[in-house]
Amino acid sequence: MGSPAAFSAKKPGIPHKLPDHIRVLPLCYLAEVCFTGAVIPAFTRVFSFFAHGALLMSAISLSWYYMKNRHGKGYYMLAQKMEDALNEQMNREMYSAYLYMAMSSHCANKGLKGFANWFMVQYHEEMFHAMKIYEYVNLQGGKAVLKALQQPPSTFVSPLEMYTKTLEHEQFITRSINDLMELAIAEKDHASQIFLQWYVTEQVEEESNDNEIISQLVIIRDDPNGLMMLDRELAGRVTTVPTEYSKGLQAALKGAAA
Ligand code: FEO
Repeated sequence: MGSPAAFSAKKPGIPHKLPDHIRVLPLCYLAEVCFTGAVIPAFTRVFSFFAHGALLMSAISLSWYYMKNRHGKGYYMLAQKMEDALNEQMNREMYSAYLYMAMSSHCANKGLKGFANWFMVQYHEEMFHAMKIYEYVNLQGGKAVLKALQQPPSTFVSPLEMYTKTLEHEQFITRSINDLMELAIAEKDHASQIFLQWYVTEQVEEESNDNEIISQLVIIRDDPNGLMMLDRELAGRVTTVPTEYSKGLQAALKGAAA
């Protein structure tokens, strides 16, 4: 999936300065106050008309600006660079889901139904991770933006190769989560730090699960009986996350609790 997102600033976390047109228009009014007193009365009246118009537009623009920022796109809640980085992470989680679905398909094709089940459960876990970001970004007044997904590999040499690739991928995800956390700290974005803490903990579990299965596969080596025993064990993994993504996670969680 390449390197972690290049963080680019497009939108300030907090509007430090007003847009230029809002700051310039009142200057027109100030110009009227300073310069029109000694000029020809007719000119003064014309100039005064435009200056008052400029002042009125400035007031309207200022009201719109604050309404938009407070209740619209959430400039106060999520910095643009944080929003962009979270969207990149959402794409990585979606790719993770895509990768594990490809692995599930390969295992099913090879008659390893337990492994296929394990990877399909992992697919749902990754979709859950992506949807958590989707909801968080939108909740924080930002916009979850979907990007193209990289094509995952479709064939694998062995279960050991698949879990080795899975662990490598999860280590990459862990690094990207750590980068996100460092950005949240640099931005003094406490809400995102708390949100990302869940992912930090989750990555410990994900890497641990992969390491455990890799250890078993190393012991099994080329023993078909051992492989079939592990396949039966992995068939027992169940999905514990809500999967009705179209409802949104909060709605799906409420439904599950009902
Ligand atoms: Fe969402 Fe497996 O990291």
